[in-house]
Amino acid sequence: MRGILLAGGTGTRLWPVTRAISKQLMPVFDKPMVYYPLCTLVMAGVREILIITTPEDQDQFRRLLGDGAQFGLRLDYAVQPRPEGIAQAFLIGADFIGAESVALILGDNIFHGVGLGQQLSRPGRLAGARILAQEVTDPAAYGVVELDGTGNVLSIEEKPIRPRSRYAVPGLYFYDNRVVDIARTVRPSARRELEITAINDHYRRSGELFVTVLDRGTVWLDAGTFTSLMQAAEFVRVIEERDGVKIGCIEEVAWRCGLISDGQLRRLAEPLTRSGYGEYLLGLLADRRVER
Ligand code: G1P
Repeated sequence: MRGILLAGGTGTRLWPVTRAISKQLMPVFDKPMVYYPLCTLVMAGVREILIITTPEDQDQFRRLLGDGAQFGLRLDYAVQPRPEGIAQAFLIGADFIGAESVALILGDNIFHGVGLGQQLSRPGRLAGARILAQEVTDPAAYGVVELDGTGNVLSIEEKPIRPRSRYAVPGLYFYDNRVVDIARTVRPSARRELEITAINDHYRRSGELFVTVLDRGTVWLDAGTFTSLMQAAEFVRVIEERDGVKIGCIEEVAWRCGLISDGQLRRLAEPLTRSGYGEYLLGLLADRRVER
């Protein structure tokens, strides 16, 4: 399965902070925001990832993440010239996806939960679409999915004024290869975007939209406003300081997934020791008997 990490957009909900820097490069406590969704994709078993940015921001993402070889990944880059919707990612990424299935994650979505990687990395070939659902207090801010008692999808709507349920749809989606053709049929919405919800509704109408309701222990945050960015940073800080483990640490995830060796992890750690981040990575090598 191929992966797309969508880090485009103008981040206007964070202006003036993000006028000169990509939202997805902003810090969420001790690492850039993009590390978190990158880790989520890797934990879901994805190794080849297309990072879509604005034309202006691409160089900075390359400077941060390079070609991904240092993490045992293959990272490619593409641009989204204008913020014309999430579903456009499949048009931009059509060649990259080729004949594969694809996972799409939004660059400001942060997930954390024990066993989340296992929950996401289902073996076997995906037929149709699989999305997530999480109960929230403000569903109208999101895509909203309505389920019947047996988990069948009754409806899915983008930011409905009167939500039919409290289940928001997080920004992590899994599709079979037909998603590229479906994306070509989507027309811009009232807010002039190609909506991911239109794609999901297409699969729903043919009975091929499957929903995984996230465990109550799973945390899903989006970091797109001043408050949510601060909340995300605070959440990460509290967990990291309390438990002594990092969230969204791509070096650690790559190492635990067996994508890089001990020596490679050590080389990644060395330039990062002054901030304490590298010390943490070196500590993983010293402390390997403690499985977390
Ligand atoms: C987008 C999607 C929405 C989804 C949300 C998750 O919203 O359109 O369906 O629930 O991401 O973060 P947007 O970020 O465009 O407001």
